[in-house]
Amino acid sequence: MSREILLLSGPNLDLLGTRSPDIYGHATLDDHVARVRSLAEARGYSLRHLQSNFEGVLIEAIHEARTTSAAVIFNAGALTHSSWALADALAIFPGPKVEVHLSNPAAREPFRHVSTLAGVVNGSIAGFGAQSYDLAVAAVCDLLG
Ligand code: DQA
Repeated sequence: MSREILLLSGPNLDLLGTRSPDIYGHATLDDHVARVRSLAEARGYSLRHLQSNFEGVLIEAIHEARTTSAAVIFNAGALTHSSWALADALAIFPGPKVEVHLSNPAAREPFRHVSTLAGVVNGSIAGFGAQSYDLAVAAVCDLLG
């Protein structure tokens, strides 16, 4: 069985560090990836990361993950609130799936209160800043056993 965890990052997350640091913090996406890669490796898993601003690229990455990855951790950015196509793609992935957010969308503008992904993932972790990612890695490692 694959020992790879796929971390997917959606639109605008490439700008973390400079994008609304009051909401998302000062860490860059590279900072988050490096930290959670160490956490995954300490649990015996490798971590592959892909960021894209394009929905279709993210959908194809999930398709490919069916043959390459044991689990998916996904921060879909604003696509979380609108993309039924991403929800359909994730539903097909057979392994553990965790939705993650730095901020707590439920405590923000009304359009962020809907998640198309929430119903097709094992669980959602939101609102803990960088620690949301750390908790997501711990969750998928526990689910993988
Ligand atoms: C986010 C929350 C989304 O509402 C927003 O569009 C993002 C980031 C988060 O990590 O808090 O791009 O997914």
